[in-house]
Formats: sequence, structure tokens, C-alpha cells
Amino acid sequence: EENVLKDKFQRQIKYLRLAVTDRCNLRCTYCMPEHMQFVKKNQLLSFEEMLKVVEILAKNGVEKVRITGGEPFVRNGLMDFLSKLVKIEGIKKVGITTNGVLLDKYLDQLKEIGVTSINLSLDATSKEKFFEITRRDDFDKVYAALEKMVALNFDVKINMVVMEGKNTEEIIPLANYAKKFPIEVRYIEEMPFNGKGKTVTKSWNHLEIENELKKGFPDLTSIDTSKSNTAQLFQSNKMKGRVGIIPAFTRSFCGSCDRLRLTSLGEIRNCLYAKSGLNLKEALRSNISDDEILELIQSHLSTKKKSGWEEEKENTDQLDSMSLIGG
Ligand code: GTP
Ligand code: 5AD
Ligand code: SF4
Repeated sequence: EENVLKDKFQRQIKYLRLAVTDRCNLRCTYCMPEHMQFVKKNQLLSFEEMLKVVEILAKNGVEKVRITGGEPFVRNGLMDFLSKLVKIEGIKKVGITTNGVLLDKYLDQLKEIGVTSINLSLDATSKEKFFEITRRDDFDKVYAALEKMVALNFDVKINMVVMEGKNTEEIIPLANYAKKFPIEVRYIEEMPFNGKGKTVTKSWNHLEIENELKKGFPDLTSIDTSKSNTAQLFQSNKMKGRVGIIPAFTRSFCGSCDRLRLTSLGEIRNCLYAKSGLNLKEALRSNISDDEILELIQSHLSTKKKSGWEEEKENTDQLDSMSLIGG
């Protein structure tokens, strides 16, 4: 048999979500408190260590890496790291999920390196709303980066976290970005990962979001989507792009889950909802062989639950901040 990573339920891991830092230059309310306690820098995995892990995974069937955080661009040396990452044999696609604040000046270089997929976290279309949600005044920078990404033909997806009482009136204005630009605008059900311990998330579900979208775009129709896509996609004749809804809280993607996560602290997590993982940092620093590292990962993978979401969604009081896990 070929070298692949499989769990007990025959799900093959092809996608790594790699959180390169827990730090962020914004303070989105759904993700972290204003006075967030960040991890000490020396606790983070080094870029060399991350590259080593990706090399091992790529030899065993992982084809796609999505860089997350925190905000990836606040970590020094990111571009150099990315240029090495894309060259790893077996890695077919590298994407990045970013808030866009620092993006503008890196876009040409990203294009050159071959990082073509950018998921932009943006929850509002005005300076005022943006400030209310992120606690920082950076809307103009993000919008400028968006325009430039479109001009440079990046594969752009906007991620909007839908929060009842906070930004549901921004659903249509954001969809208008998909009307104006050939991009995908995705609406995400809020999940209970704001770093504050126990939280009750009462937010709009995917059906409520779909209804709201249909008010602005009555001809909205769903399009077929691949099984591993987190979003259900929709199109309208009025749009150059399209919209998507990610039912992150009310539905499970577990059946077709092909993901593994590596947190900024160097923990392998086999599920977004996992409360802890495998301390790979310790293993990496203890001079063990690549085969032994692979074995550790494989044995951790075999503890992956059939549905982490089903088992853990009600049990959210110990969940970390999204910025530590990377979403
Ligand atoms: P692509 O790599 O472009 O397919 O993007 P993606 O949607 O997988 O990742 P992105 O970083 O843009 O995240 C979008 C939303 O999906 C975020 O809110 C993530 O937290 C959420 N998400 C990503 N993976 C999972 C998952 O395995 N389970 C759940 N419930 N949500 C997820
Ligand atoms: N619920 C849903 N999505 C979230 N994200 C961050 N925190 C949450 C949350 N509590 C999203 C960000 C980013 C992606 C990686 O996860 O908007 O786009
Ligand atoms: Fe994968 Fe866990 Fe998300 Fe389910 S809840 S799709 S197992 S990460």
C-alpha cells in the first residue's frame, strides 16, 4: 500500500491547517478578548520545525496546506517560510487565511511565489462596523488589499462570521462585493471559540443566512460543491462571483473530514473541537527520527473521533481561542 495517513474510519488526511502564530493585530470579539494573553515567542514552533513536519506529511499523502493564525503576517520571516513551503515535493496547493491588514505590500511577492488562494476575514463593509467588531481602525487598509488582490487575479474568498445583533445587516453589503468582484463571499455560523471560556453562541444558522441573502438576490440558486468543501455555494445572475454559507456550528463536516491541524504551539490536533492534541514540539526537539515522528502522528490520528463535532459541540467551556488553533 502507498504511504498515506488514515484514521480508523478510513478517512485519508490530505489537508493540513497550519497556525503559524497566535498573535494578531486585530481583536475580533468572536475570537479573543481585548487583553489577550499571547504565548511567549520561544514557545512557538520554529519555521524550520514546521517545514520538517510538512515534509513528513507530504510524503504521506498531504497535498494542501492552509496557513492560519492568529494573523500569519505578524510573524517575522513568513515570506521566506512560504517560499520554502511551496517547494516541498507533494504539496500541490498552499493557501493563506488572513485579516488583510498587512497584506497589501506582500501581494506581488505572494503571486511570484505561487500562493494563489487567499481567504480574507472581513465581517463588515464600513469603518465604523469594522472597528466595533475588530476593536481596531483598519478597514481602509483591508479594503485596499482586497482591490489589489482582485486586480492581481488571486483566488479570493471573504470569510464573514455572522453575529446576531452585531453584523447581520452587513450580509447583503458583503454580498455586493461578490456582485462587483469575481470572488467568493462566505458566511460562517459563529462558533464558541472566543477564548473566554464558557460561551453561549446564539447566532444565525445557515437557513437564516440563506433567507437574508435571498432578500437581496431573489434568483439565488445553489451550485454543486465538492464533498470536502466547508461551504455550500450559491450563485446569482447579478454576481460576477458567488456566495457560500459555512454551517460551521449546526452541521458536521466530519464524514468527509480530510484535515489535520498543527497549532502555533506545535500541537497536532485531529479535530477543531479537540481539547488537546499531540505535543509534537517536544518530540521534534528530542532528536527522534522522521519515521518516529510519523508514527507518533499516525497513532494520534487513530484517536480521531468519528464526529468530534457531535461529541463535543455542547461541551465548549474548555475550548481555546480560535487564534491558537487556527480555525
Ligand atoms: P479552503 O482551504 O479554501 O477550503 O478554506 P476553509 O473554508 O477550509 O478554511 P478557512 O480558513 O477559510 O476557514 C473558514 C471557516 O471554516 C472558519 O470559520 C473555520 O474555523 C471553519 N472551519 C475550517 N475547518 C473546519 C472544520 O474542520 N470544522 C468546522 N466545524 N469548521 C471548520
Ligand atoms: N466562529 C467562526 N469562525 C471563526 N473564525 C474565527 N473565530 C471564529 C468563530 N468563533 C474564522 C475567522 C477566519 C477563520 C480561520 O476562522 O474569521 O476567517
Ligand atoms: Fe473535522 Fe472535527 Fe471539524 Fe468534524 S468537527 S469536520 S472531525 S475538524
